[in-house]
Amino acid sequence: MVCSRLAVLVTAVSFFSTLLHAASTAAASGFVASDGSVSFALNIPNDQVDDTSLYFVLTGPSTSSWISVGMGNNEMKDTLMFIMYADSTATNVTVSPRLSYDNTEPSYTSNVTYTVGPGSGISNGTMTATVLCHNCRSWKGGSIDPTNTAANFLFASGPRESLKSNSVTANLQRHSSYGTFTMDLTRAVGAGQLPSIVTADTAGTIQDTDKSDNDFLPALHGALTIIAFVGLMPIGLLILRIMNSVKWHALNQSLSAAVALIGVFVGIYCGTLYNRSRSFNSAHQLFGLVITVGMVAQFILGFVHHRIYKKTLAPTKLAPFHIWLGRLVIPAGVVNIFLGFPLAQNSKYNWALLGFVLAIIIIISLVLVWKWKQIKRQRKMRLAVEGNLNSDSGSEMRPWSAMGEPETNVPLDHINGPSAYHVPR
Ligand code: HEM
Ligand code: HEM
Repeated sequence: MVCSRLAVLVTAVSFFSTLLHAASTAAASGFVASDGSVSFALNIPNDQVDDTSLYFVLTGPSTSSWISVGMGNNEMKDTLMFIMYADSTATNVTVSPRLSYDNTEPSYTSNVTYTVGPGSGISNGTMTATVLCHNCRSWKGGSIDPTNTAANFLFASGPRESLKSNSVTANLQRHSSYGTFTMDLTRAVGAGQLPSIVTADTAGTIQDTDKSDNDFLPALHGALTIIAFVGLMPIGLLILRIMNSVKWHALNQSLSAAVALIGVFVGIYCGTLYNRSRSFNSAHQLFGLVITVGMVAQFILGFVHHRIYKKTLAPTKLAPFHIWLGRLVIPAGVVNIFLGFPLAQNSKYNWALLGFVLAIIIIISLVLVWKWKQIKRQRKMRLAVEGNLNSDSGSEMRPWSAMGEPETNVPLDHINGPSAYHVPR
């Protein structure tokens, strides 16, 4: 144990000293992505006593949230990846070794010992990591073979989002570009030294694929659930209170429940891609599932209530539960959006959402107050007319029968059935 620590220390000291000497003489294989997103140079020490180490330099534009290279495979599965992102000061970099077993966010591995050397950092719009990895030539699912003339590698970079973290387990957003390349590793073997940054592919390096990627699923999940909870559901409330139409209310709320349900299924799938959500135990996911159950129950209650009412033509005991569950589910869905954005690393949208929600609350309140005042005024007018009628028994025709009642004051029992079926308040 002490011996191996000493060996690591000795190699680390020689690593730093190589930086002080002419590193450019190191044997190296180099790769530069055709879109300029990643550059990678690798040196494999041929030292008999050091057959587990690798030296490499990874660079790329600091506008990317993260920059990564993966070793030993041409797909994410079973690849050892080194991911670099800005540290909390945004002047230095954090380097995180991760393993990936699927097309999902790779997970940090503590089995890799590595040293990040001087020369690493962020300057002039470029992120750089100089790394000596002490035991990187084999891992669960893969290995590096110095005799391989076409060894598989991956490269990828994150979207233009701010990621500043000192944590090696920092949450990542999905790549905005990725690809695969092969390198002739025999050209990288030589005295153990840090290679120079490369600006073009070296001989024996071939880029196989290059793809830009856009993870639209979290946005789709957010859009569908926001449309349902902030848009359609409050509109359903206005349909009931302003238009006094139970039928259109039911249609609108069925549509909003369907939109929300599709959104939730998309959210459940998104959750499987990321370490932050894979265990389905974040507050947003748990609360979201409870709200979804409440929303489905709300739909069933409304539906059953209406069926019973149509048979009995009498109010049912389910009505108050339907009303109060609805009054809870809609604001709860809105609160859950505020938990969703931080989970998706998009906390900045919460401010825009706050403004949007406040504007909608103000508009709905104004409309409801206007409606309430209108009802009060009409009731007053009707009472006054009825008072006149009572005192003037000689009148032959009630005035509103001739004029017709204003549309907004059409009683619901008239539209939706007999008198028991009032829109409940
Ligand atoms: C948040 C982290 C990540 C997520 C959620 C993720 C997810 C995915 C998904 C869903 C695909 C399939 C895309 C498609 O078929 O259209 C994919 C492919 C790919 N990813 Fe990632 N990835 C992540 C990080 C990385 C990293 C760090 C690398 C590093 C080098 C990488 C390299 C690749 C490559 C080369 C492919 C194409 C080959 C393959 O299908 O495995 N990914 N990724
Ligand atoms: C009331 C229902 C829900 C609402 C209103 C809602 C809303 C949102 C919103 C607005 C986002 C941010 C999307 C973005 O920034 O692109 C989000 C993220 C997310 N939601 Fe939901 N959600 C709900 C239910 C659920 C449920 C039930 C699940 C899964 C069980 C879920 C899983 C997720 C996941 C995993 C993310 C983060 C995706 C990522 O990391 O990029 N959501 N949600």
